[in-house]
Amino acid sequence: MNINQLSKRLTAVAKRIPEQAVVADIGSDHAYLPCYAVKKGLAKKAIAGEVADGPFRAAEQQVREAGLEAFIEVRKGNGLEVIDPQEADCITIAGMGGALIVSILQAGHLKLEGVKRLILQPNIGAEHIRQWLIDHHWELMEEEIIEEDGKIYEILMAEKGEPLRPYQKNREQAILLGPFLLKNKNEAFKKKWTREAAQLEAVLKNLEKAGDRGAAAKKKQQVLYTLQLIKEAISNEKSKWS
Ligand SMILES: C[S@@+](CC[C@H](N)C(=O)[O-])C[C@H]1O[C@@H](n2cnc3c(N)ncnc32)[C@H](O)[C@@H]1O
Repeated sequence: MNINQLSKRLTAVAKRIPEQAVVADIGSDHAYLPCYAVKKGLAKKAIAGEVADGPFRAAEQQVREAGLEAFIEVRKGNGLEVIDPQEADCITIAGMGGALIVSILQAGHLKLEGVKRLILQPNIGAEHIRQWLIDHHWELMEEEIIEEDGKIYEILMAEKGEPLRPYQKNREQAILLGPFLLKNKNEAFKKKWTREAAQLEAVLKNLEKAGDRGAAAKKKQQVLYTLQLIKEAISNEKSKWS
């Protein structure tokens, strides 16, 4: 990967940056995404935010070497604290767990005023993001699920709007698996949820050994319910979604 040729995962994020945006990439590491976005003319300006020393310096070096200092500012700090209110109109957060992405959005929610689009790429736990978006009046507009090097990634794009619009049917299932992804179950989707179902079956087996009391019984119920939502989605039967 380099700033002219991103990974499939980051390309799926970059292609959703609105034209001429000021984009803040939080957790930017080597600043590949902001450099690519500015070089390709997707963004007119970018901020690369990084909390950790090494990745922060790598981002600074990358921007310097690309000669893009006039267009990209590399800032060190935690989450959205690196941007001012109304400064960015698009935020990208990629390559982290969904729970961490939510904690960044939550801690910095005051900085989101003026932001028109969020492009979020959780490695796991996308359901936390979908729930947060609903709770904070962001409407999920697009989703994509891709496989790259044996790993499966989801990309979620949201804008201010009607948060429940995509969740007309079976909200719990849609929050877990993705309302748009459910409508077009591609190979990556089926692979991810077949894997997840197998893991949950293994958890269930262990819980069965623990018997039917207290916390184990409650956990078993939760796992069974989640499994049901997943199996319904990946079964060949005509689902509620088709
Ligand atoms: C796995 S890397 C992903 C880098 C890049 N976004 C990508 O998708 O390839 C995650 C980066 O996020 C940074 N990070 C984690 N938590 C952060 C936070 N609260 N604020 C800013 N950066 C953070 C880490 O230091 C790390 O460099």
